[in-house]
Amino acid sequence: MSKVVWGILSSANIGIKRVIPAIQAGERGVIGAIASRDAAKAAATAQRFGIPRSYGSYEALLADPDIEAIYNPLPNHLHVEWTVKALDAGKHVLCEKPIALDAAEAQAMVAARDRSGKRVIEAFMVRHHPQWHRVRELVRAGRIGTVCALQSAFTFPMRDPNNVRNVPAYGGGALYDVGCYPIVTARYVFGAEPERAIALVNRDAAGGVDQVTSGLLAFPRGGQLVFSSALKLALYQRVVILGTEGRIEVPVPFTPPKEQGTRIIIDSGGSVDGSSAAVEQLAPVDQYLLQCDLAAAAFRGELEQEFPIEDAIANMRVIDALYRSARSGRWEKP
Ligand SMILES: NC(=O)c1ccc[n+]([C@@H]2O[C@H](COP(=O)([O-])OP(=O)(O)OC[C@H]3O[C@@H](n4cnc5c(N)ncnc54)[C@H](OP(=O)(O)O)[C@@H]3O)[C@@H](O)[C@H]2O)c1
Repeated sequence: MSKVVWGILSSANIGIKRVIPAIQAGERGVIGAIASRDAAKAAATAQRFGIPRSYGSYEALLADPDIEAIYNPLPNHLHVEWTVKALDAGKHVLCEKPIALDAAEAQAMVAARDRSGKRVIEAFMVRHHPQWHRVRELVRAGRIGTVCALQSAFTFPMRDPNNVRNVPAYGGGALYDVGCYPIVTARYVFGAEPERAIALVNRDAAGGVDQVTSGLLAFPRGGQLVFSSALKLALYQRVVILGTEGRIEVPVPFTPPKEQGTRIIIDSGGSVDGSSAAVEQLAPVDQYLLQCDLAAAAFRGELEQEFPIEDAIANMRVIDALYRSARSGRWEKP
C-alpha cells in the first residue's frame, strides 16, 4: 500500500518538534510539501527535514494535487478556517487541538467533511498512547471498583507574551491549551459526556487570557472530574483515578517522551503511604507516530475513526460550558 502524502500547514513548533519527525518515522506517511507565510522559512524547514517541496503561502499547499492529507497546527483561531479550506480542496485533515474556539464554529467542519467526503481528525495524541488503552482496560475490568472521580493537573511555564498561548485573539489561554487534556481524558475514562460544569478562572490582567483555570465536571452516575490547568506555573501533569476499591495513577498522562517508558500505578489502598501500590511498566512509544499512522489508515478508509469530529465538538462544548460558568458563576450544561 502506498504511503499517504502529507502537506504541513506552517512551520509551527509542534510540527517541527513532534509531528513532522513522527510522520517521517512512521510506516504510513510521507511528507510531500510544507507551507509557511514566509517562503524562506518554508524552504529552510523543507531542507532541514528533506521535504521535497515548499510554498510561501498556505493556498499554494492546498492547490498541490499530490497532497492527500493536511496537518493543521495553526494557532487555535485558524483551525476551522484552514481545515474547512483543506477539506474543500479535497484533502483529509489532522487538525490540532482544540478543534475550534467554540462548538458553534466547529460545526463548519462537519458540513465541510460531509460535502467533501474527506476525513477530519482532532490531534489528541494522548488517546493513542498504550498507557490510556491499558487504563481503560483496567477500569472496565473493575480493577479499582466503580470509578467515582478523576483528579488532574496540567501546568507549564509559558511566559513569552508573544507566544500564541498568551494572545487572546489567537485562542490563547490555559483551558484551550492544556485544560482540554483532563477533559478529553475524563470523557475517555468514563465513556460518557459530562452533564454540567463549573469553573474558576484567573485572567492575566495585561493580556486577558486565562492563566489558571480550574474546573469541576459532573458525569452521569455521580462521576466527577476536578482539574487545574495553567500557563505560568511550573511543569507538572498528573491523573489520579479514584474508585471504590482503589486508585490508578498515571504519572505522565499527556506528554510522555517517546524515549521513556511510562508507568501506571495501581493501588488497592492497603497502606496510607502508597507502599501497597503495584506498578505496571510500559515500553517507550511515540504517541505522535501512532496518531499519524492511524490517521493515515483512517484517511484510506481502512479503519473507522474511533473519535470522529463530533467527538471533538463534544469536547469543545465542555470547554464552552466552563468558560460560560466562569462568567456566570454558576453550573452550566455543555
Ligand atoms: N498535540 C500537542 O501535543 C500539541 C503541542 C503543542 C501545540 N499544539 C497545538 O498546535 C498549535 C500550534 O501550537 P505551536 O506551539 O506549535 O504554535 P507556533 O509554534 O506558534 O506555530 C503556529 C504557526 O502558525 C503560523 N501562523 C499563522 N498565522 C499566525 C499568526 N497570526 N500568529 C502566529 N502564527 C501564525 C506560523 O507559521 P508560519 O509563520 O510558518 O506560517 C506559526 O509558526 C496550537 O493549536 C496548539 O494547541 C498541540
